[in-house]
Amino acid sequence: MTFYEYLIATRKALSALTLSVKDRIVYSETRKALARLSWMLKPRAGGPSLREKLEGIEELALHYEAVAGSYLSPEDISEGHHGDFDCMNLLAWMPIVENSGVPFVPARAIADLSAAEMGALSGEVPQSLLQRLRIFRMISDVAEKMGWRGSLSIATGEHSDRLYERAIQKITDAMDTVSDNEMVRYVRCGATGLKVLAGAGLAGPAPAPVTFSQDLETGPGWIRNGNRRRIDVHDQRIIQCAAMTPENYRHVFVARPWVKTSRWMVASDPHRRNTPVPGPGAWPAEWRAFIKDGIVTGVSSYYSWAHDGGQEDACMALAVERAAQKIIDTAKLRQQRPAFFDVDDWKSLAAGADMPVRHHPNFNDLEAYLGEVPPGGYNCTLDFIETDQGPMFLEAGPPIVPFGFLSGAHPIGFSLGIRMETFAYPDVSGYALSPPADLDTTDINAVSKTPREGHILTAREVNKIAEAGSSLRPDTAKTNQE
Ligand SMILES: Nc1ncnc2c1ncn2[C@@H]1O[C@H](COP(=O)(O)OP(=O)(O)O)[C@@H](O)[C@H]1O
Ligand SMILES: [Mg+2]
Repeated sequence: MTFYEYLIATRKALSALTLSVKDRIVYSETRKALARLSWMLKPRAGGPSLREKLEGIEELALHYEAVAGSYLSPEDISEGHHGDFDCMNLLAWMPIVENSGVPFVPARAIADLSAAEMGALSGEVPQSLLQRLRIFRMISDVAEKMGWRGSLSIATGEHSDRLYERAIQKITDAMDTVSDNEMVRYVRCGATGLKVLAGAGLAGPAPAPVTFSQDLETGPGWIRNGNRRRIDVHDQRIIQCAAMTPENYRHVFVARPWVKTSRWMVASDPHRRNTPVPGPGAWPAEWRAFIKDGIVTGVSSYYSWAHDGGQEDACMALAVERAAQKIIDTAKLRQQRPAFFDVDDWKSLAAGADMPVRHHPNFNDLEAYLGEVPPGGYNCTLDFIETDQGPMFLEAGPPIVPFGFLSGAHPIGFSLGIRMETFAYPDVSGYALSPPADLDTTDINAVSKTPREGHILTAREVNKIAEAGSSLRPDTAKTNQE
């Protein structure tokens, strides 16, 4: 079997896997949301009553609507308005990046859905499932007794066939303008399938569609079930990211050209080692810059295990740092700030309704964290792909947060493994080019548990590798340092 045949076969297997779980997504997301809620509402000695908690959550939800609902739209950003915008909104970043002069992967809007349309497309949770969940019955009972019509009360809302049909029409027509060398993604994140393929090193330079049968085919961000393609909105990550937005959010999908990375790294995939599809993968060279309070404090290769930490990596890490700093300086100059509600409004999050964050083992770290990532400051991550023109802006995201990775950015090379064994959040300062030389990167457990010490370089060390053209491994360079 050639490497190419292997890639195709594995991609098919992984695509089939993500396809087969789709039907269960709505159910499992509902279950997860209710489980989280049930944890929050669990009675604690001396804690507030259930009613007080529900009211607290409702208050917080309204506060979120007020704050996030007034974020600048991509159009506002283009027109030069000052203020905060959703740090995950790709289209909001575009005018800023363009203005900074840093090369970027373009994105054009192909469909624009309202919250109602997005909801109609995301799937229906059957009443029978909800009724089986104790927590759901409990909340319904309390809500009814309180005569409560808040955001948690169960909207049985008229199911509108017309709304659904119109939304389907939109996401189908949108694909007519998308060519074969373009990919499609939601404005706040990519689809699960794309993430799985790219993360597993299986996307390849321009992922061709995977055909399962005459009627069923998937491509990056879209699906064909019958004879027309439609945007894949029925995706776990997209549904999750869409659900975390205020009511007035425009759910935009964009098409982007596939950009060829200037370096492909072939390596063994530590994450697939004990799966039905083990083996090698090829990763595009990508990077993440971590920004705390307007300053790039850290740079990490994105698919770290595939990097060797040589001169090319060192030069690129420095170029990424410069590009990221340029973008942030531009945003500051334009007074357009990437906002992340969880960090910016941590006070209301922590205070409201005995929020679970209070019981988090890292709660005491919060003060220290907020010193570095001050609410209202320029805090985010910026991702780049390596091209012949140098680092090209790919997308942006929230800063890392001390409460796990559910809401904040992944620290990648600063923690090495995709799977994390601990909630502790690493200090994302310095340069993480590659894993330590003696680390067995085929062993995901070893990778996940490896502490950050020893493979994070200082500016001086990175400059030395970049200048000397030395092929020294970063950790060897470290011992050689005078
Ligand atoms: N236009 C593109 N050109 C080349 N690779 C892409 C492109 N868009 C996405 N990718 C690949 O897919 C991965 C995930 O896509 P991304 O847009 O970063 O969304 P997310 O990280 O939210 O899933 C990227 O890290 C990259 O490897
Ligand atoms: Mg990404």
